[in-house]
Amino acid sequence: MTVVTNSILYLSGVSVSFDGFRAINNLSLALDPGEMRAIIGPNGAGKTTMMDIITGKTRPDTGEVFFDGSVDLTRHDEADIANMGIGRKFQKPTVFESHSVEDNILLSLKGPRSILPTLFWRETQDAAKRIDDILGIVRLGDKRSALAANLSHGQKQWLEIGMLLAQDPKLLLVDEPVAGMTDAETEETARLLRDISQSHSVVVVEHDMHFVRELGVKVTCLHEGSVLSEGSLDHVSADPRVVEVYLGR
Ligand SMILES: Nc1ncnc2c1ncn2[C@@H]1O[C@H](COP(=O)(O)OP(=O)(O)O)[C@@H](O)[C@H]1O
Ligand SMILES: [Mg+2]
Repeated sequence: MTVVTNSILYLSGVSVSFDGFRAINNLSLALDPGEMRAIIGPNGAGKTTMMDIITGKTRPDTGEVFFDGSVDLTRHDEADIANMGIGRKFQKPTVFESHSVEDNILLSLKGPRSILPTLFWRETQDAAKRIDDILGIVRLGDKRSALAANLSHGQKQWLEIGMLLAQDPKLLLVDEPVAGMTDAETEETARLLRDISQSHSVVVVEHDMHFVRELGVKVTCLHEGSVLSEGSLDHVSADPRVVEVYLGR
């Protein structure tokens, strides 16, 4: 069967059980190319498991998962999926602490793995330009020579987002990016993700409702592995079912 969608990401009727427990239950979701979507929902709603399914870490028992219109993600493994252009940021930052900020980006750049000494001059120039652009986007232009270990928690999160950008993904999945950030860092992260969404599709899972409001995008609330409510943040947060299972707590 050939399925072609207009969506960058398309899930339909997806279910997965762990030892008989249905963590994802008939989940359907479609993301337009270039869209940024916020995913909210109580602990255990299946948000991280949904990302595991998209990235090939977990295989669904049933349902369809398509990327970029027609790529059946259930037929690919994690490495393939990353190479096809889906980048994922986990909750905890995993930067190379003993390297400088700019080397962290350099080491993540897509393309030939062999670095500086073996690069031709032209490639070196291109790489330098890419690194500059990325450091600008992730607000670390003035920290380029700093050791990653010496960044604040929030700056490490930004650096990791920069490392994802260096892979030039079409779709970015970001799980709870502002957990543990200061208010100022949280607001800057919303601006940063809005900048990135100008040229990428993005799925952001986050609990911080102030941050979700700053993102200003369509929201999907998950509950017990399915979509409970979807629409503007005002629409979703006024939905009595969302108040009942999530916001009212
Ligand atoms: N690999 C796994 N094995 C068993 N249970 C799992 C596994 N992954 C997730 N679960 C369960 O699935 C449910 C959804 O978890 P998760 O996707 O992490 O929720 P969320 O990210 O929304 O908090 C939880 O009840 C969790 O315990
Ligand atoms: Mg989670």
